[in-house]
Amino acid sequence: SAASDVYKRQAQGLSLKTTAQRAGLRYGTAIEPQTVAADPAFAALVLDQCDLITAENALKWNALRPDRDHFDFAAADQVAAFARRARAPMHGHTLVWHEAIPDWAIHELKAGDPRALLVDHITTVVRRYAGRVVSWDVINEPVERNDRRPDGLRKSPWFEALGPDYLEIALRAAHAADPNARLAIADYGLEYDDIGWMVEKRGTMLELLRGLKARGVPLHALALQGHLLGDHAPSFGAGLAAFLREVAALGLAIYVTELDVNDQNVPGDIAQRDRVVADIYGRFLRTVVAEPATQIVVTWGLSDRYTSKTDFFPRPDHAPVRPLPFDAGLRPKPAALAMAGAFSHRGP
Ligand code: XIL
Repeated sequence: SAASDVYKRQAQGLSLKTTAQRAGLRYGTAIEPQTVAADPAFAALVLDQCDLITAENALKWNALRPDRDHFDFAAADQVAAFARRARAPMHGHTLVWHEAIPDWAIHELKAGDPRALLVDHITTVVRRYAGRVVSWDVINEPVERNDRRPDGLRKSPWFEALGPDYLEIALRAAHAADPNARLAIADYGLEYDDIGWMVEKRGTMLELLRGLKARGVPLHALALQGHLLGDHAPSFGAGLAAFLREVAALGLAIYVTELDVNDQNVPGDIAQRDRVVADIYGRFLRTVVAEPATQIVVTWGLSDRYTSKTDFFPRPDHAPVRPLPFDAGLRPKPAALAMAGAFSHRGP
């Protein structure tokens, strides 16, 4: 059709990396070391499109820490080697999270010295990748309003062991280990203007950030994960813009670190689904990149060939999910064009 011819012409030579750079942004993806090792065509696409690399799982505790006395850097080093091939810095994910903690560490948090466990881990990992990992999700998903604490903090194993100080302990340890690394707090559920709990979570997050900054804790960025909803209207308007402004007013940068669109329940044929997904990418990114404090955009994968959405959010009709900017055949989808469009229309 004429529409698909127009699309093919526009998709020719599409470079998210270059389009982002021209807008003063860095665009990248999360990867698994096995996939780039086993699939040269996919690896080539990542090298072509990205100048920032995140480990989807390889820097989590359960990947790095087989037991208390050992670190296993094999997978993380493969990601670092790939980033070097891409001549790209890395964004590190993640040092402190309530998930992906091995059983031995859960036990150690209750019975051992939790502060030493946390500080030793952060010091070892951040030092090893200093100069290569330029920014870290030091804390991932610290806010859980359902845990009903007045400060909104999640009752994570870290919180239970160390109290609210765990945030400051972690950030100070990361800063000491690499004073040049940019340190972020990351969370989900901050994106939508018309979902009540998300709007409330923005306020909780702002209070948390404000308190840390007021105490002089090293903290440089807020990371929005950006797991967007294919079956929800894209309400990324004045509310999101105002929230980002307030974050920036604290002197913080803004990152998007896990962007994708869950199309589990999006109806229609592939063309219809891809249009819905692209519209969500475009509207979200237009608002986010209009904020001058926004610096990096990372998608949680690059091609639908490799996405954890396949396992976690399969479609009831069993059709393959399509959450990412490139399709399973590594061709750019309308979402990739929408991303490039949003980057290139970044305001003055
Ligand atoms: C997910 C990975 O994509 C999966 O491969 C893994 O099995 C579980 O973790 N929020 C996060 C990410 O911060 O670390 C999660 O990544 C997705 C949700």
